[in-house]
Amino acid sequence: MKEQIQAFIFDLDGVITDTAEYHYLAWKAIADELGIEFTRAFNENLKGVSRMDSLKLLLSQAKDRREYTAQEMEELADRKNKLYQTMIEKVTPSDILPGINELLSEIKRRGIKLGLASASKNAFFVMERLGLKSEFGAIVDSSKIANNKPDPEVFLKAAEMLQVDPAYCIGVEDAVSGVQAIKSAGMFAVAIGDREAFPHADLVLERTSQLDFAQIATAFASAANGN
Ligand code: BG6
Ligand code: MG
Repeated sequence: MKEQIQAFIFDLDGVITDTAEYHYLAWKAIADELGIEFTRAFNENLKGVSRMDSLKLLLSQAKDRREYTAQEMEELADRKNKLYQTMIEKVTPSDILPGINELLSEIKRRGIKLGLASASKNAFFVMERLGLKSEFGAIVDSSKIANNKPDPEVFLKAAEMLQVDPAYCIGVEDAVSGVQAIKSAGMFAVAIGDREAFPHADLVLERTSQLDFAQIATAFASAANGN
């Protein structure tokens, strides 16, 4: 028997829209100001990671490794967030990444539930700007959870709100910590990015334009049947 998918739970930044690029640009501006080298390759480690933990990672790249007070850390994180917020003010529905609208339509057409599991405190604002807020049955951001990705809490909370069984959920992520969270939640993980970066994902696609409901459903059914 073909196993039935009950819900798709999406990450936001870098999956539904390219706000991952804005997070990078805002952190890069802070790093430049502090004279810290901050590459795109290192930025991969920040994906899915909370604002304060991202700052700690960024500061770990400094050559002088000076100590920052809690207040200085707050100020730096706040400044990054303000830069980021000026960037997301311009987000419109045309910023939804290729393939996402088509996949969302197919999910809804089949009566499958839709959830969002984001580490960002700006998730509601971005979803509103994208015109997607009312499309999702559950939107969980980091203000609603105690433990960030790679902990499964954000995905499990979304599944709970949607009243679905995690074993019949598909999680979609672009972050290594996010894929870990999906797998720890007992869900099927679709990763967007380089194949080598996601050894634990059930399906890896290079870009969102390759997202295809039929392919995901077939891969899910075959994993559920232990093939
Ligand atoms: C995640 C991003 O979705 O949200 C991270 O991948 C970001 O890069 C995190 O640090 C927290 O976002 P915010 O908007 O609360 O600073
Ligand atoms: Mg992401």
